[in-house]
Amino acid sequence: MMWERWWLLVALFVGCHAVDRSNFKTCDQSTFCKRNRALEPGESQYHVLPDTVVLSDSSVTMDVINKQNDVLFTAEIHALEDNTARIRINEKSPLHPRYGVQGVLIGEPKADNWKVQRSSDGFQAVFGNSTAVITFSPFRVDFLVNNEVAVSVNNRGLLNIEHYRNKKVKEEQKPEEEEADQEGKEEEDTGNQEEDPNKEEGDIEDFEDDEEDEMDSPPTDDGDDEAGMWEETFKTHHDSKPYGPSSVGLDVSFPGSEHVYGIPEHADSLALKVTKGSTDPYRLYNLDVFEYELNNPMALYGSIPYMVSHSAAKTVGVFWLNSAETWIDITSATAGQTMLTKLMSFFKSAEDTPQVDTHWFSESGIIDMFVMLGPSPRSVFRQYSRLAGSTMLPPLFSIAYHQSRWNYNDQEDVNNVNAGFDQYDFPMDVIWLDIEHTDGKKYFTWDSGKFPASIDMINGVAAKGRKMITIIDPHIKRESNYRIHQEAEAQELYVKKADKTSIYEGWCWPGSSSWIDFTNPDIRKWWAEQFALDKYQGSTLDLFTWNDMNEPSVFNGPEISMHKDATHYGGWEHRDVHNIYGMFQPQATCEGQVMRSGGKERPFVLSRAFFAGSQRYGAIWTGDNTATWDHLKISIPMILSINVAGLPFAGADVGGFFQNPEVDLLVRWYQAGAFYPFFRAHAHVDTKRREPWLYDDDKLAIMRDAVRMRYQLLPLWYTVFWESSVTGAPVVRPLWVEYPKDQNTYPMEDQFLLGNSLLVKPVTEQHTSSVNVYMPGTNAVWYDVQTYEAYPGYRWASIATPLSKIPVFQRGGSIVPKKMRVRRASSLMVNDPYTLVVALDNKGKAKGQLYSDDGHSLDYKQGQYLVRDFQFANKKLTSSSGDPNGIYKTKEWLERVIVIGMNVSPASITISSDEGEKNLRFKYDAPKKVVEVKKPGLNISKDFVITFS
Ligand code: GLC
Repeated sequence: MMWERWWLLVALFVGCHAVDRSNFKTCDQSTFCKRNRALEPGESQYHVLPDTVVLSDSSVTMDVINKQNDVLFTAEIHALEDNTARIRINEKSPLHPRYGVQGVLIGEPKADNWKVQRSSDGFQAVFGNSTAVITFSPFRVDFLVNNEVAVSVNNRGLLNIEHYRNKKVKEEQKPEEEEADQEGKEEEDTGNQEEDPNKEEGDIEDFEDDEEDEMDSPPTDDGDDEAGMWEETFKTHHDSKPYGPSSVGLDVSFPGSEHVYGIPEHADSLALKVTKGSTDPYRLYNLDVFEYELNNPMALYGSIPYMVSHSAAKTVGVFWLNSAETWIDITSATAGQTMLTKLMSFFKSAEDTPQVDTHWFSESGIIDMFVMLGPSPRSVFRQYSRLAGSTMLPPLFSIAYHQSRWNYNDQEDVNNVNAGFDQYDFPMDVIWLDIEHTDGKKYFTWDSGKFPASIDMINGVAAKGRKMITIIDPHIKRESNYRIHQEAEAQELYVKKADKTSIYEGWCWPGSSSWIDFTNPDIRKWWAEQFALDKYQGSTLDLFTWNDMNEPSVFNGPEISMHKDATHYGGWEHRDVHNIYGMFQPQATCEGQVMRSGGKERPFVLSRAFFAGSQRYGAIWTGDNTATWDHLKISIPMILSINVAGLPFAGADVGGFFQNPEVDLLVRWYQAGAFYPFFRAHAHVDTKRREPWLYDDDKLAIMRDAVRMRYQLLPLWYTVFWESSVTGAPVVRPLWVEYPKDQNTYPMEDQFLLGNSLLVKPVTEQHTSSVNVYMPGTNAVWYDVQTYEAYPGYRWASIATPLSKIPVFQRGGSIVPKKMRVRRASSLMVNDPYTLVVALDNKGKAKGQLYSDDGHSLDYKQGQYLVRDFQFANKKLTSSSGDPNGIYKTKEWLERVIVIGMNVSPASITISSDEGEKNLRFKYDAPKKVVEVKKPGLNISKDFVITFS
């Protein structure tokens, strides 16, 4: 039977234990990459036609000509509020419309007025704290911050837009040869077998027959029939490229900078490496890469085309809004090599100022680039979040601990796992069900043999304060009696083949499948409706969703993904929307979860694929990693890089997905995972069971301690997530984010900050008896959270790391809210009392915040939240409202205050509030210099002053 054959293939596929590089294109095999990479820096061929310049209060529009072929382009430059600029370049009269990404920006960016001064060859425009210097001939744009050039665009002359053109008929190709070629292709290609794809305007025959068309169309270039321009074959897969070459490319330099970050997802260092001359460029093309390799620029599951450049003088960002396959080359250089003489005067330093040169190119679409001119890390994060949005405020359970494996086999298994966590007093919030829970991989269904009463099962888990999650992938089994498939077929909800008419088919977990076209807003609405409790039978409001394989993964497609000539809503090619497809699915899923609760409850969705904007729809994880120390180690820079790129809610499979971790690795992974924003253990179906109690008691105890530490710190995590949702700042931060002038921190990637108060250096190497931790900040002091030992800033410290030790330090000057009474799930801790840990700086001061609400509903949008500001100064701890609009009435109260770094014991401690004044009991630990204040007892929403006299 077809079935068995199919499963054999899947087994072979998932069984292979090393990336098969040959499944994925190198730059040389991606012809547009090769063409763009081959361009040499030099004088740009693109020139502004000065007569066409139309200036407004905040923008300019102008025609730009490519002098090589006289093709015209329209360039716009916009000054936007908050020190941001936008550059858009499109063909002036394209043969076919070019794709501009929809659905990423949270609104039309607001314009900022600029002041313009014309010069002989261009003009300067001042806006915010920045100046744009626009040069006409050749076209380039330089952005100055504090009178220094911060970002230069097209200074190396690599701007390149392959205009749409008509295909030349090759004279030398005989008709017999063409026919033979065509047959070969059809045999090889399993996914898109349609002939004559995309026959429409601009097709060869039209061109030959239609003189008018010929006159209107842009001239063809010499060399436009270069190999791969009009069709491309990779392995057995044929890309019909009906529109021919269409790539867009541009160079961007960051003078004065030696470090750039971001553009995830890559299993590589946090500080991006020089690629030119050493490796392929960093590739952004959402792909399902089995057993991915580390330390290389290969594409992975997600793509965020957003890069941050940081130096002691300034931080700036570039956001390349294009959802086609994109590559980014990085070179390091000196400013003198590319600076214009007239800009040199702006440039305070010498010609040998270092700079990073980057070169971006995408296969199709338009150039739409945002430049965020900082000048601080915080301001760049905010500027980006104003464009693409910030993280949603997650429900509390979703930032607690998740237990997953492929697969929990049946209801009994789930019940036992649920009970096991209680029996071993191991906190846990969510049990996950992978693909095997369905009836034959038909999502939204249950295997009725294994899960005959799913509602009872979910209710049983929910009775312990926990949630469940089921997987729902974007591929739909092509089975005639499956309702989702029936509706999708009848209502034309599927992605189409290149012919724009027949349904695209491919293989994924269910066997023969088709893919929902999430790029269509109406189809997203239909998808959202499928989560209604009466439609998704056997579900409840305690069941949330995991959207996997949404790159999309197509087992028999090119690079295990969808054919680029498949077509979507609006007639766009998959080529245009590939990288954003995976964002639209969780978006629709989120909408569905909100709708099913009548708009009351917060959604939670985990997605594997992601794009700029995905932060608004929940969490992502780093996919199918492996149970090795290397993979544990790389998870930190990977998660930091995704955080820098505006998507904070990220994690890696704890324990490693493939293979069986040795127990010490698993323990260290729990300790690291306890400091991932998204904290989930997960494992491949072929691995041994790994529930923590299957290990020796001492190891179990250490894993439990790590998870308990996470639960105690949930108030801090929740507050930092809230802060991130408001400011766009990462949740876990590279050290330079908080210590921007400290150059030691720029390359660091094995230690990070949670918010601005905890410094974490997870142990990621085997047999480690100590680690060196860098304590940032001149005049700073850091306290070990377990021992309260103090370490001075701007120094390294050697920290002993027996297996039980997680090196975590609290910054002197911070106040961390905690809940010490750990329960079996976070929902049971909602009304529990707080402990405030006040760590004093060298001046005896500290500051902190707390955000709280009910942890699950959307009522916070109506003011049902509270924000407290805490301050310690002059031996007084003051709590005041951090936001008068928050009206949440909480039962939470203040149980304990711990002050670290208090040199002498106070004689007495009193609290005053609207309930009067009273003395508080306390204990002073002289060697540790720590005061523990007992039971202030006040509701946390009240103002108070605690005086240490
Ligand atoms: C993919 C996911 C993995 C999941 C598996 C089965 O490989 O990345 O997490 O367990 O599919 O659904």
